[in-house]
Amino acid sequence: MTVQSHPNSLTEYWMPFTSNRQFKSNPRLITGASGMYYTSHHGNQIVDGSAGLFCVAAGHGRVEIADAVRDTLINLDYAPAFQHGHPQQFELARRLAEILPGDLNHVFFTNSGSESVDTALKIAIAYHKARGEGTRTRFIGRQRAYHGVNFGGLSVAGIGSNKKAFNLGLPGVAHMRHTGLPDHYRKIGQPETGAELADDLQGFVDTYGPENIAACIVEPMAGSTGCFAPPKGYLERLREICDTHGILLIFDEVICGFGRTGHQFGADAFGVVPDMITMAKALTNGVVPMGAVACSEAIYDGLVEAAPDWGVELMHGYTYSGSPVAVAAGLATRDIFEREGLVERAAKMTPEFLSCMEGLSDIPVVNDIRGYGMLGGIDIAPLDGMPGKRGVKMTQDCFEEGVMIKMTGDACLVSPPLVAESAHLDEIFTKLRRVLLKQ
Ligand SMILES: Cc1ncc(COP(=O)(O)O)c(C=O)c1O
Repeated sequence: MTVQSHPNSLTEYWMPFTSNRQFKSNPRLITGASGMYYTSHHGNQIVDGSAGLFCVAAGHGRVEIADAVRDTLINLDYAPAFQHGHPQQFELARRLAEILPGDLNHVFFTNSGSESVDTALKIAIAYHKARGEGTRTRFIGRQRAYHGVNFGGLSVAGIGSNKKAFNLGLPGVAHMRHTGLPDHYRKIGQPETGAELADDLQGFVDTYGPENIAACIVEPMAGSTGCFAPPKGYLERLREICDTHGILLIFDEVICGFGRTGHQFGADAFGVVPDMITMAKALTNGVVPMGAVACSEAIYDGLVEAAPDWGVELMHGYTYSGSPVAVAAGLATRDIFEREGLVERAAKMTPEFLSCMEGLSDIPVVNDIRGYGMLGGIDIAPLDGMPGKRGVKMTQDCFEEGVMIKMTGDACLVSPPLVAESAHLDEIFTKLRRVLLKQ
């Protein structure tokens, strides 16, 4: 089916996380994608500097994934997700367990990053309850964190502009300070200072009592807010405090997972193994909605063994958990990652990518630059003193210039597909420089 390049009406579709009035007055429609490029409705080529929304790690239009999805649609379009299984679900979980760190060997499937986060929070509460610690229901999140848009994730997240319109979320959530310190200004890589910020968790333990805290959730490297790598020693300290007080540590790896850091997971990059990892995005190369939560042996065994042998141990799941089509896309994506060594490729490309990031630091509108692995964040000076206004303008300018970049407020995020080559980086950064110089 070819994509209709000019819809009959822009009115009815309410676009997510979009300034609908601005968009509809000057639309940016994408009508095709192949390799490192999109095609716009004007027929222009747009180089992908953001892997879509951090998800298209293996590049666009991968025929292997399309074939796997097509075959699955014909042979097993759907199987009930509850009380029944299909073989490929077990195979994808096994393949993921192979690459997951530590003993995170049990995988629960969801349909998105948001659902993965809410699932992990529910598992944390259920696990503590199953072992007789039902008072552990509080969560500790962090300022500037992004954990999706459902009520659990929104509550533990810390980007104010996303939260304010919805006010109350889960009760009993506290937020540690974010890790962006002034002395990290314009430094690429893991900051040397700031490990002591993890002691905020100890402060909440002292205030609320460890017996009331279920879990601490962080992105190992904060992604959406503008790329903050953890200070050296910070995640280690969180791990230590969690261990001392029986608190579960959850890493939200929806962006970090699958090679973005130059390692399989952020947990590997920073050498700290959490109790749960949430994933999505590059799990299926972004082409079929899917998320997953990996849990330690202790969590899985604790919950499964607490139930009678005929009983459901976790009253949670989605109609489309591990749907055949999503699993097929996941398995085909795993094959591509392995065959093409995408994680190793990301590690190899990282120095060149980070030096391209640093190369933008002379531009007047650039306030700060950060980067780690194949993810970079740039803070841009706000337009007319209105936070977020420049971000919307830059999205339009990038589209016109022919480069796809993700803006969160006035933070500009660069995260090319992991198949990007030097010439692609060159094109992405040349175009981005031109856009930044025009601001
Ligand atoms: C760390 C993190 N968690 C959760 C999510 C939410 O994922 P989704 O948009 O698939 O619900 C995102 C999305 O960017 C994310 O970056």
